[in-house]
Amino acid sequence: MCGIAGYIGKKNAAELLLKSIKNLEYRGYDSVGMVTLSEGKISMKKGRGKVSEVDSKVDFSSLPGTMGIAHTRWATHGKPSERNAHPHISASGKIAIVHNGIIENYLELKESLQEYEFKSETDSEILAHLIDKHYSGNLKDAVLKAIAQLNGTYAICVMHQDSRELVVARNGSPLALGIGEGENFIGSDVSAFVEHTKKVIYLEDFQVASIKENSVEIYDGKGNPVSMETKTIDWDVEKAQKQGYKHFMLKEIHEQPQVVRDSISIEIPELEKPRKIFIVACGTAGYAGLTGKYLLEKYTRIPVEVVYASEFRYSDPIICPGDLFIAISQSGETADTLAALRLAKEKGAKTLGIINVQESTIAREAGTVIYTRAGPEIGVASTKAFISQLVVLYKLAEKLSGTEISLTSIPDKIQGILNQEGKIQEIAKKYFRVYNFLYIGRNFNFPIALEGALKLKEISYIHAEGYASGEMKHGPIALVSDEVPTVAIAPRDSVYPKMVSNMQEIKARNGKVISVATEGDSEIPEHSTDTLYIPETREELYPLLTVIPLQLLAYYIADMRECDVDKPRNLAKSVTVE
Ligand code: AGP
Repeated sequence: MCGIAGYIGKKNAAELLLKSIKNLEYRGYDSVGMVTLSEGKISMKKGRGKVSEVDSKVDFSSLPGTMGIAHTRWATHGKPSERNAHPHISASGKIAIVHNGIIENYLELKESLQEYEFKSETDSEILAHLIDKHYSGNLKDAVLKAIAQLNGTYAICVMHQDSRELVVARNGSPLALGIGEGENFIGSDVSAFVEHTKKVIYLEDFQVASIKENSVEIYDGKGNPVSMETKTIDWDVEKAQKQGYKHFMLKEIHEQPQVVRDSISIEIPELEKPRKIFIVACGTAGYAGLTGKYLLEKYTRIPVEVVYASEFRYSDPIICPGDLFIAISQSGETADTLAALRLAKEKGAKTLGIINVQESTIAREAGTVIYTRAGPEIGVASTKAFISQLVVLYKLAEKLSGTEISLTSIPDKIQGILNQEGKIQEIAKKYFRVYNFLYIGRNFNFPIALEGALKLKEISYIHAEGYASGEMKHGPIALVSDEVPTVAIAPRDSVYPKMVSNMQEIKARNGKVISVATEGDSEIPEHSTDTLYIPETREELYPLLTVIPLQLLAYYIADMRECDVDKPRNLAKSVTVE
């Protein structure tokens, strides 16, 4: 996800837009650019890096004019670079656009724009040329014609050097209009302009607006005028960046339905079937990898070994040419994972990175890279990156096995769980003073037990251990008491009866059980103290759902313990040291 901003009024556009994109930088920060219009001339500055880095080189404030657009990028198509930075200018040099979203059919559209010289590798640039192609004096009409050809998501802001107006459009990516006195503002969210105006119009999907300093005209996708309510908000910048959520982590948990939708369309490159697969990572990424083991072995029957990166790098691993080494990392900078990747390459293995941050070190050094589509993950505790990693692993299993694995129902099912947030909060209230937790799961949900325990311990500082459920009787059940609750992940799957037995053993020893169960399971409450329900799905898809209540449970317990949820003590978002 990227941040887009626009301004039209009487003030110095560049200075105002510079502040806007700084406030939007949490949405993406690999490159930044700005265009202003002055005396019928478009001027542009852009570069690779964070806003302040690029500004120190190009001095955005030197751009003249009282109208402009700006963008801070999170790369999806085309690596972070100056040429791929937005804004993009049309071939005529008269139209500038900034875009947030993913144009799924950009290659097909690019084919129809052969007469134009493309300067970047991005999907967004086609919009500049497409609008140019349709332009015959009315910018709004040209935008309407162009977006009618688009598949995918977009929030765009467009300007033409011959007219003092900004035209915006959205579908699937957010766009807010700030209504001022003799000036108007645009932002991916209100943090772009909330210090200037609290009057906001939230554009809806398929709407287009023509914005001048004293007017805002909104149209539907067919060009019919529509009237939209102007809301007054009481947010400050920080609250706006979190879109009203108390913490980035909670916002990112709630972004997961869209992250799954975005991730489903990730292209998996052609890969030779390997003799053996190694999945190597740390922390949550490692638990995504362990889930991947169950998936890949079920679908491809290729043996998969999952190893902590910190162990792999010092174990003199038996990895050979013809093996596939998969590094999973949100940041792409984790020192142990990077070292393990380098060792695997030395030993001749093919390497694949499943990475969230484009052009990060691991992304650049892996032989092949598949980028997850979680967008910037600000909370230290990984949630939406984890779910995007899982989606990539499902798609990898599908690619290597040739068996279709449909995930299209998952986003709505995740949303259904998120809608039960209040129930999860109630359960958190019963347990937030507890000092020890056990998490148990089997088969596909064993890695989710590990992940659920990690989520709780890293943000609430409660000691929590994840176990393979069958291991309980080999020691851990000695820990069970009425002061040590157990989270049991027990959806209706092939190991459900075994999970019920484990729960009965715990209850028989006065242990409390919080179960994660399939909606409609009327038996499970007999074996539980509290039950969190998730929608039914196929056995191998349950990890995408069972993790959600565990993320929320950890979040609410930590918040009730007044912990610093987004920045837990002793932790960093990226562990670049051993
Ligand atoms: C997860 O919530 C933690 N923040 C941590 O375990 C993290 O997953 C681990 O450090 C790996 O980070 P990476 O994905 O950036 O490599």
